[in-house]
Amino acid sequence: MKILVIHGPNLNLLGLREPEIYGTTTLSQVNQLLVEYGEKYKVDVHCFQSNHEGELITRIQEAAEKYDALIINPAGFTHTSIALLDALQACRIPAVEVHLSNIHAREDFRRHSVTAAACMGQICGFGADSYKLAIQALLFASQRKKNFQGQRA
Ligand code: DQA
Repeated sequence: MKILVIHGPNLNLLGLREPEIYGTTTLSQVNQLLVEYGEKYKVDVHCFQSNHEGELITRIQEAAEKYDALIINPAGFTHTSIALLDALQACRIPAVEVHLSNIHAREDFRRHSVTAAACMGQICGFGADSYKLAIQALLFASQRKKNFQGQRA
């Protein structure tokens, strides 16, 4: 299985940015961790980060040609972006939404995800392990196979 992990805005600052919420692990360390974790399960993990909504949308649009599934942390765009929601809905491969923090235990405006409706599910609150859990969720889903491509629920 080939998975593209997409990180949204400000996640390039991981390790420095509000470490009491997001931890001290940097984005490149998270990515390295995910590549190694994927290897254990014969999953080819590629990672991409952008602060720009349009670049994230382009990657989502292109993903179905090269990947079997997406893991996405839309970061601040989670709570606002209809354009990312549309891109995920148009995408023919399954996606899992991930957050490092438990967005449901934070400010009111973070409790609602616009983008999760286009994903198979959402995993949040486990720091970098949220991404590992998303890999496991996709492995379980692919074992169930039925309608893995295009699956949302
Ligand atoms: C986040 C949660 C979002 O509310 C926030 O805007 C982020 C990070 C997380 O991973 O916990 O940038 O997506």
